[in-house]
Order: sequence, then C-alpha cells, then structure tokens
Amino acid sequence: MTVHFIGAGPGAPDLLTLRGRDLIASCPVCLYAGSLVPEQILDHCPTGARVINTAPLSLDEIIHEIQCAHTNGQDVARLHSGDLSLWSAMGEQLRRLRELDIPYSITPGVPAFAAAAATLGQELTLPGVAQSVVLTRTPGRASAMPSAETLANFARTGTTLAIHLSIHNLSLVVENLTPYYGGECPVAIVWRASWPDERVVRGRLATIEVLVDDTMQRTALILVGPVLEAEDFQESSLYAVGYDRRFRPQSADSPFANRADGEKSRL
Ligand SMILES: C[S@@+](CC[C@H](N)C(=O)[O-])C[C@H]1O[C@@H](n2cnc3c(N)ncnc32)[C@H](O)[C@@H]1O
Repeated sequence: MTVHFIGAGPGAPDLLTLRGRDLIASCPVCLYAGSLVPEQILDHCPTGARVINTAPLSLDEIIHEIQCAHTNGQDVARLHSGDLSLWSAMGEQLRRLRELDIPYSITPGVPAFAAAAATLGQELTLPGVAQSVVLTRTPGRASAMPSAETLANFARTGTTLAIHLSIHNLSLVVENLTPYYGGECPVAIVWRASWPDERVVRGRLATIEVLVDDTMQRTALILVGPVLEAEDFQESSLYAVGYDRRFRPQSADSPFANRADGEKSRL
C-alpha cells in the first residue's frame, strides 16, 4: 500500500501529468483538496473509488482516512493543487506517514506561477533583466513569515517576484515594493490561471490597486518586475552564432570537438 501524493496542476484538468493521471486511475481511494483541485480530475478515479474532499477535514481526520486505507491494503491518491513543493501542506502529512511507517510517493504537478506565466505569454527570466524568480507570499492568518523573508528583502534584488496567497494584501504589496521597484514597475495579476474564467489585469505598482476589482479574490498570483515588459533584453548566448558549446562545437580546436559522449568538457 502506498500513498501517492500527486500535483493536480493549476486548474485546467489536462494540465495533469500522465503519471498523475495513471496513478489516480489505479487507486481505490482518492483524497483531494477540494478548494482548488478541479472536479474533472476526479473522473480519472476508478469506478467505485472512495473519493473524499479533504477541505473540511483536520490533519488528524485525513491521516485517519489514510490509516484505514493502509489497514485495508488500498493505495491512496492524494491530490493537491499545482505542485506539491509549494504551500501544499504535504510536509506535515509526510512527517506523519514516516512516523506511521506508511509508504508514499510524490508526483509533481504544474505550479500556478508557471501557468500564470504561460497565460501572460512571458518568460520570467530574461538575460540581463532577471535571472531569478522569487516564489513568495505575504503573511496569512495561519502562517507567519520567517523574519528575514520580507517583501523588502526580496525587492532589494530587483528580480521577478511571484507573490502567492496575497491578493487580499495587494495594498501592502504595493506599499512594500514601490520604494524598490518604483511606481512605474509593471505588475500582472493572473486570477484562476488556466481555469475557464481566468482573468488577467496588467498595470504598474502605482495603478494596479485601482485596476483590480474585488471579484478577483483568493486564487490569484501577483507577478512583479521589469521582466514583464522588457523587449530590449539580450539574446541568450546558448543559441548565438559562434558560441562554442558542448552540443555545437565551433571548430576542430574546440574543447567540445570529437567528444562523442558530450560530457567530458574541460570548461
Ligand atoms: C495554497 S497555494 C497553492 C500553490 C500550489 N501548490 C502551486 O504549486 O502553485 C494557493 C495560491 O496559489 C496561487 N494559485 C493557485 N492556483 C492558481 C491559479 N490557477 N491561478 C492563479 N494563482 C493560483 C494563488 O496565489 C493561491 O492563493
């Protein structure tokens, strides 16, 4: 018996990995985080599966369901939205399962920030503009932030910020970021990326608050940074004509020439 943690993706039911789909289809028990996991994904459950929405359950109740399945020798598909490595509450479940000696596996999913970038038609790391993406949030009722993880600290880098769980804190985000990025810095808010009712609002730190209406609650990602409207960025060296590299040696003298395995670079 194994508990298969599966990233269910950002919303569109076809943004689920093939491995995730096949695991769901193989499990007689499915526990899903009903607040964000799309119902259509549950269509992959086998007929007669025990399918439980864990949104109203406590951690103890979730673990109890898993223990029952374990006693019955039944595999469990455990679905969380997006990817499991980000704000999924998987960590505390894994710790309990380790204590109980219940085996588990983890299948990643498409995270919301990647779906939002796709909706915007943007790369978030452009050469010479931004080479990092900070995946962060503002403090919530249930989750304080570690003291050094402030928006101001991240903003000092000037790089791209993907701010989760914070649409209700938009004025705080604007207030904290404006001293570092300036009021003209582009901002994009993607609400329910990849869902049929997805919406996008683009603006600047100085204007974004008046552009967003209060129907855009909860499931929204705030992206901030010059990368959002950079057009004069450098091209990457990787595909530049004349750039000597492992998979495209430029001459017989190249350290990469005649290296069939392509892995023995001297560089
Ligand atoms: C509890 S976190 C889950 C994050 C998820 N595990 C992931 O990998 O993206 C929920 C937050 O993720 C963001 N989010 C999740 N799905 C989203 C979507 N489809 N569109 C925009 N933001 C989304 C929102 O900021 C939301 O408040």
